[in-house]
Amino acid sequence: MSETRNGKRGAFKVPFGTISIPEQTKRMIADLLESRRLSSGRYVREFEKRFADLLQVEEAVAVSSGTDADVLALSVLHDYGAHRGDEVIVPALSFVATGSAVVHAGFRPVFVDIERETLNIDTRLIEGAITQKTRAILPVHLMGKPADMDAITAIAKRHKLFVIEDAAEAHGAFYKDRPVGGIGDMGAFSLYLAHIISTCEGGIVVTHNEEYAGILRSLRSHGRACKCRICILNTTPDRCPNRFKNIEDRRFTNERIGYSCKMNELEAAIGLGNLDLYEEILEKRRRNLFHILDRFEEFHPFLSTMREGPGERIGPMAIPIIVQEGAPFTRAELTSFLEERGIETRPLFSSIPTQCRGFEYMGYRLGQFPKAEYVGTHGVHIGVHQDLGEAEMDYVLETLRELLRRYGFRGTEGAG
Ligand SMILES: Cc1ncc(COP(=O)(O)O)c(C=O)c1O
Repeated sequence: MSETRNGKRGAFKVPFGTISIPEQTKRMIADLLESRRLSSGRYVREFEKRFADLLQVEEAVAVSSGTDADVLALSVLHDYGAHRGDEVIVPALSFVATGSAVVHAGFRPVFVDIERETLNIDTRLIEGAITQKTRAILPVHLMGKPADMDAITAIAKRHKLFVIEDAAEAHGAFYKDRPVGGIGDMGAFSLYLAHIISTCEGGIVVTHNEEYAGILRSLRSHGRACKCRICILNTTPDRCPNRFKNIEDRRFTNERIGYSCKMNELEAAIGLGNLDLYEEILEKRRRNLFHILDRFEEFHPFLSTMREGPGERIGPMAIPIIVQEGAPFTRAELTSFLEERGIETRPLFSSIPTQCRGFEYMGYRLGQFPKAEYVGTHGVHIGVHQDLGEAEMDYVLETLRELLRRYGFRGTEGAG
């Protein structure tokens, strides 16, 4: 099996996540520490510019986490007439942050069940959840598989709603030739460790709309009146020309309720190193993903995963594995079997409204989101990242075969 990029291997043979830190990043970080210019500045701006180019959008605004990216994108809606308590439509199955972000931005999440095959929001159920108070749809591209953006965009247009994509897990994903995250009004990415592009901790919002980007820049810095790009540069030669125009000090005048969630220079340096490696990382992850997906039919009918549909490209975040009805083992047994053999797992999230205790106050009842709840109790996801290769993917396949053999199932190995 291949060594990890950093020459070390953790306790797991197939760890869940990794982060790539090339040599040039280490040098940049050493120089930054020497300069002591560490808070948001030139590298953050450069990272934003390159991320926007990659997503084929006009603007990108870097923040300190993917959750903040969701919260800030949603908070922009307050500048366009949305009120506290208005509603945002969200898939029931996602990482819990998708639901919490809606609450933190001052809205009420209205949950909609998912499709088990795609793990994404069931667009046929969205219109039934729209009320007078609905302001936005927040689809999630879970595991890097694009949600049905044509259907979502059409519904949003009919009902005059914003679309904010939670693309936290979907770097490198495409929907009909368009990068996912750049299709709706705004797209929110996580840049946390295990993600395709990482800054260690971090997030970024992308948009085609300059005005939204200005509001996002204001929001991430306490709602300050100055929204210009120069104000994020902590260097003296680039002083903001508008700072004292018609106002005492624009940088210290606060015109909306904001947050404190800027990205710092050290994180941006890691992000720039990741962008240098982006194509390589993506290609390795896709090779790993399809090594498993192309052979997964042999585990039918006991285990399922996802597929790449026509007109879409998955940006692989991880590999989902769902124990199907009638399987002779439980998810707990699958999890222990994999973990005991060095394959790290994560549960495939939960139905946010009915399986996450923090959302009990909303009054949803178990059984209201049968598909999300099924995946929430029967799904896991495992690593697909760039420090893994064919040997590790073969090891995963062989371990799953061993599990099935243990239950007397011979499988169809090699059937493709
Ligand atoms: C779908 C989804 N949304 C939001 C987030 C939050 O991102 P972060 O952990 O960077 O806050 C994540 C985390 O990976 C996620 O998977």
